[in-house]
Amino acid sequence: MHILDILIKKRDGYKLTKEEIDFIITEYTKGRIPDYQMSAFLMAVFFRGMDDEESTSLALSMRDSGDVFDLSDINGIKVDKHSTGGVGDKVTLVLGPLLAHHGAKFAKMSGRGLGHTGGTIDKLESIPGFNTVLGIDEFKDQVNRIGLAVVGQSGDIAPADKKIYALRDVTATVESIPLIASSIMSKKLASGADCICLDVKVGSGAFMKNMEDAEKLARLMVEIGQLAKREVTAILTNMDEPLGHKIGNGLEVLEAIETLKGNGPADLVEVTIEIGAHLLLDSKIESDFDVAKDKLRETLKNGSSLYKLKEMIEAQGGDPSVVDNPNMLYGTAKKYELKSISSGYVEKMDALSLGLAGMRLGAGREKKDDQIIHDVGLDLIKKIGDMVSKGETIAIIYHHERGLEEAKKLILDNIIVGPKRNKTVLIEKTIVNNKK
Ligand code: URA
Repeated sequence: MHILDILIKKRDGYKLTKEEIDFIITEYTKGRIPDYQMSAFLMAVFFRGMDDEESTSLALSMRDSGDVFDLSDINGIKVDKHSTGGVGDKVTLVLGPLLAHHGAKFAKMSGRGLGHTGGTIDKLESIPGFNTVLGIDEFKDQVNRIGLAVVGQSGDIAPADKKIYALRDVTATVESIPLIASSIMSKKLASGADCICLDVKVGSGAFMKNMEDAEKLARLMVEIGQLAKREVTAILTNMDEPLGHKIGNGLEVLEAIETLKGNGPADLVEVTIEIGAHLLLDSKIESDFDVAKDKLRETLKNGSSLYKLKEMIEAQGGDPSVVDNPNMLYGTAKKYELKSISSGYVEKMDALSLGLAGMRLGAGREKKDDQIIHDVGLDLIKKIGDMVSKGETIAIIYHHERGLEEAKKLILDNIIVGPKRNKTVLIEKTIVNNKK
């Protein structure tokens, strides 16, 4: 097999075989295909696309380039969720304890944040002592014992994807649906869960800016999951405004704790319950979607799954007293109350810009090796549809001076106040696989 033949074939719009895809991925990972030829391949895929079968082969090839975890010695059906990345998305921190309380086995390997989107691992590390690095045996043992564990992805999960993603980043080939779908699914499939619920974010703060692309991505990932014999469901959720009120690592853990105590913001509760109900159905713990939703809603309302978060924090070496005293997560950050400069309703928010405001304060990374500041971020007092008067606090900024002026400007420029009372449609669509 020759790389040049494969490049010509894809350049001219023909379908590649599994063997050809395996060849290019294996040889590139081993350093036997240079970056310039891989770049040409990625650009050809960007313009010519790939069908479901090719995308599945690509996902499986990248999955098999590194560790593929076998979680079969965890009793029961293992569940996982994945968000394609948003602002203020702390669903995992609520969902894990909630599902573990309902008897599910929540076995999750998560990532770190990059750019305006946050990552669960950074959020968890704002809990003093919390260890996100567990060996696979410790991970499995913890899920068996308490029903949940959330850890960082080992460096050896889908190394081909890691190498290719870095190249896509500098060759303008990130925004390709087959490349995104196979990249995400390669890691999800390697992580070993039986049932996966994908939360595909749509809107200004998301990768996918419109419904059409989001739906294509979701369908393709569900199809890849099905071809790889996993139970995969995708929901499309709005990311024009951040999820919940708080953005920033410690602040998001705090909001997750409040949600588990029964005081969560409606949008965060809704998305968590929707994903949770799919996973309870897929893991055969519940058989009726609406009943599952009602049960989960009730559990959140009465705070009865909070102890599971405490158990996870304890098991992973963290200080469980944060659960009873979440205000410690504010740390030493100073508080700045940002006032509205006009009166009306919040008509629009730009989640991307609000995520960037958090990043300027130090809540996120511009570059991979940047250090996170755990106690900075935003508390959005007003969200879309809320009434606000001139001079009223619209957001509280938690800061250590760095980025404060920039954050203030980004917030004021991107929370639009006007006469219209808009309402966000949160859950736009659900895509299930053909077997259901
Ligand atoms: N997230 C991923 O893991 N890969 C992509 O290509 C895009 C988002």
